[in-house]
Amino acid sequence: MIVSRIAKLFLAFTSLYFTAGSPLRPRATCTKTQVAVLGAGVAGIAAAEALHNASISDFIVIDVNDYIGGRLHHTTFGKNPATGQPYTIEFGANWVQGLGKPGGPQNPIWTLANKWGLNTTYSNYSAIQTYDQTGPVDYVGLLDEYETAYGSVEKDAGQILTQNLQDRTMRAGLSFADWKTKDNMHKQAAEWWEFDWEYAWPPEQSSETFTVINFNDSFYQFSEDNNLCTDPRGFNYWLKQEASTFLTHNDPRLLLSTNVTSIDYSAKDTVTINTSSGTCIEASYAIVTFSLGVLQNDVVSFNPPLPAWKQSGIDGMQMGTYTKIFFQFPPDSDGKFFWEKGANPDTQFFLYADHYERGYYPVWQSLSAPGFYPGSGIIFVTVTAAQAYRAENQDDTTVKNEALDVLRSMFGKDNVPGPIDFVYPRWTKTPWSYGSYSNWPPGYSLEMHQNLRANLGRMWFAGEATSVSYFGFLQGAYNEGQYVGEQVTQCVDKKLFSCDDEPHYENLKGDTTSKRVLQEKNGWLVDSTQV
Ligand SMILES: Cc1cc2nc3c(=O)[nH]c(=O)nc-3n(C[C@H](O)[C@H](O)[C@H](O)COP(=O)(O)OP(=O)(O)OC[C@H]3O[C@@H](n4cnc5c(N)ncnc54)[C@H](O)[C@@H]3O)c2cc1C
Ligand SMILES: *[C@@H]1O[C@H](CO)[C@@H](O)[C@H](O)[C@H]1NC(C)=O
Ligand SMILES: *[C@@H]1O[C@H](CO)[C@@H](O)[C@H](O)[C@H]1NC(C)=O
Ligand SMILES: *[C@@H]1O[C@H](CO)[C@@H](O)[C@H](O)[C@H]1NC(C)=O
Ligand SMILES: *[C@@H]1O[C@H](CO)[C@@H](O)[C@H](O)[C@H]1NC(C)=O
Ligand SMILES: *[C@@H]1O[C@H](CO)[C@@H](O)[C@H](O)[C@H]1NC(C)=O
Ligand SMILES: *[C@@H]1O[C@H](CO)[C@@H](O)[C@H](O)[C@H]1NC(C)=O
Repeated sequence: MIVSRIAKLFLAFTSLYFTAGSPLRPRATCTKTQVAVLGAGVAGIAAAEALHNASISDFIVIDVNDYIGGRLHHTTFGKNPATGQPYTIEFGANWVQGLGKPGGPQNPIWTLANKWGLNTTYSNYSAIQTYDQTGPVDYVGLLDEYETAYGSVEKDAGQILTQNLQDRTMRAGLSFADWKTKDNMHKQAAEWWEFDWEYAWPPEQSSETFTVINFNDSFYQFSEDNNLCTDPRGFNYWLKQEASTFLTHNDPRLLLSTNVTSIDYSAKDTVTINTSSGTCIEASYAIVTFSLGVLQNDVVSFNPPLPAWKQSGIDGMQMGTYTKIFFQFPPDSDGKFFWEKGANPDTQFFLYADHYERGYYPVWQSLSAPGFYPGSGIIFVTVTAAQAYRAENQDDTTVKNEALDVLRSMFGKDNVPGPIDFVYPRWTKTPWSYGSYSNWPPGYSLEMHQNLRANLGRMWFAGEATSVSYFGFLQGAYNEGQYVGEQVTQCVDKKLFSCDDEPHYENLKGDTTSKRVLQEKNGWLVDSTQV
């Protein structure tokens, strides 16, 4: 008896051993884990921390980049004339937006930035001067005019929401509030500063209701303040520090420089993730935190292919591009930089209205201003949407020369020297992001967004874009990561909790195609389905 038992064990052992080593084996055994967190940006790290907080330690975090942070992404630039050291500049997120009031709710990003002692500086949006192609022209009053109109758009959007009315474009909302830019390029620049600079799309391409919801939830719930990161360790410092509280140095659960190529969610109990180096991970649950741009551009293949309701939820939300173009200039003989002359020394922003093109190198932001990197000679300009695609498709020299021409019309032809350093990222072409952050387009309903957000069996989704309240913001990524981490915790701990699917809609019925509306007296002259 005993002998045969031992023999059986031995046989089992040897057969296991030889199977594992056999060349006939179809593929390497996948690394097994309970939860695969795909992406080590804010959402991925928040999800992993939520798992950790629930005492789930069997997870793996995977990212194609070699750092924690994702779109919290900095680089070194220029040179500090005093120390010879390069400066740190942020290619991705730069501000904590909406901080919080004493006693009120606080932006979780602000809480964490303070917890880890991140250096930030108050961005003073009133410290602005205005220009056009003829040089300095004072049209700051137009900003107040816009803000008055926006005040009635806010109330209006509140009524659309509470009375269940149909949404419309932000452009329609602004027009209804009597803000009309027509061909006034100063007004267009003012509007760009107030709107596109935040949402990365023009008002025509933004939902009135969801834009106002998004604005209210960060800037009224928390506070209207924005602080810019001025920390040489980079804006992702706080996230790295937070991650280090549960992921040790060289933690085998953190797989950086690992490119996910496909996700197979066809099996009942597992999700299998393939990487470009031929390795695979078999997880009970996966949390996908890839950007909307990555999901929209078929970078990662899904097996089975995503169902139509999911794909249309993904395609319907809109990815933006927000491109910051950095210059470092030498000082003049008096030690000042050309934009500081004739300007209030505290000015942080220089708004440019081009005569011909809306959004053409419009907002110039000085990092040389007090509290930022004084004396650095660094100034950067931001472009979005069509102007960002244009800049990202052009070569560096063309963009540099166009932007220098703008500076010369603002500050005088002979006052702008050649830059010491110049750089900009190309977010539209970055294969781990494909764009900067999402925006809510008109005609995209909350139900459609739930389809973007919903899980597919054991595959869950989180990220900036899945957030209704805070899409586009770091706090959106954080809250969604934390939320989905908690949901998946409940799935893992089935004995203690029930684990519910997020709601989704296979078919979303519209009103416009109903028989009631499709009538000749309503202008429906031809049955377009029968022509
Ligand atoms: C230019 C710019 C300016 C911004 N400004 C601000 C700001 O001032 N304030 C603010 O609050 N927010 C700002 N944002 C938005 C903010 O950065 C994002 O909301 C947030 O960082 C998104 O976090 P996430 O975890 O959802 O996504 P990500 O940070 O994109 O994380 C997803 C991770 O998935 C990884 N990944 C993607 N594809 C693969 C793959 N195939 N295999 C493996 N890994 C993959 C990526 O490398 C990435 O690390 C800005 C963003 C940009 C780009
Ligand atoms: C994890 O727990 C800590 C300590 O309670 C808390 O501060 C933190 O916010 C939690 N993190 C998440 C992502 O829920
Ligand atoms: C943060 O700012 C303070 C005050 O300016 C400075 O003393 C400190 O060195 C800064 N920290 C870092 C990491 O730069
Ligand atoms: C912001 O800038 C304006 C205009 O320069 C100035 O009047 C105001 O005091 C500044 N506010 C703060 C908080 O620095
Ligand atoms: C946004 O906030 C304003 C000011 O509190 C309020 O009047 C409006 O109803 C809110 N709008 C929405 C859509 O929540
Ligand atoms: C993952 O890789 C394996 C082995 O190469 C392959 O058989 C499988 O089809 C891949 N899965 C997907 C979804 O591409
Ligand atoms: C990941 O690998 C795929 C296929 O090899 C490649 O097309 C893609 O660019 C890679 N992604 C990143 C972010 O490097």
